[in-house]
Amino acid sequence: MSERFTKAAARNIFYGGSIFFFIIFVGLTAQTDYYIRTTSTASAELSDSVRRGKHVWEKNSCINCHTLLGEGAYFAPELGNVWVRYNGLEDPKAAREGLFAWMHSQPSGVEGRRQMPDFKLSDQETNDLIDFLEFTSRVKTQGWPPKASG
Ligand code: HEC
Repeated sequence: MSERFTKAAARNIFYGGSIFFFIIFVGLTAQTDYYIRTTSTASAELSDSVRRGKHVWEKNSCINCHTLLGEGAYFAPELGNVWVRYNGLEDPKAAREGLFAWMHSQPSGVEGRRQMPDFKLSDQETNDLIDFLEFTSRVKTQGWPPKASG
């Protein structure tokens, strides 16, 4: 090592580097927060029923089998885009009816097919849940999931 690399120089590199990367970290955090608030979530359309639907989702641990925007378990289909899969963009009424019927017709009992329990949700809970799933389909995910099928 050159004698010019003194303890003071090492300390300056340490503190200088730490401060430099801390500033970058704060900047990226602020940018992420800004992006989430203004672009990726449709926060303006967060209604009471969406909030209630999220609680139905959590209370019944749907995530133990399903993924929501990629997070969760891989036993059952991705649901972040189930609204799109049920053609909710073209025909919201039919999509709601379809999801409603699905929730109340489980388990299907079809042999060899994975089964989903009957959660015995009330009509209100089911509609709130569907509002929540419709909301998640509007979150901008930069193309995730890559296919409508999940
Ligand atoms: C024990 C595991 C399990 C849990 C918990 C579960 N599901 Fe499912 N779900 C499944 C399986 C398996 C399927 C696929 C069944 C099939 O295709 O016959 C499914 C399918 C679905 C579908 C249809 C998806 C599609 O693309 O057609 C919806 C909607 C759904 N679940 C909603 C929910 C909601 C809402 C909850 C929580 C209240 C929930 N599920 C909890 C196992 C589960």
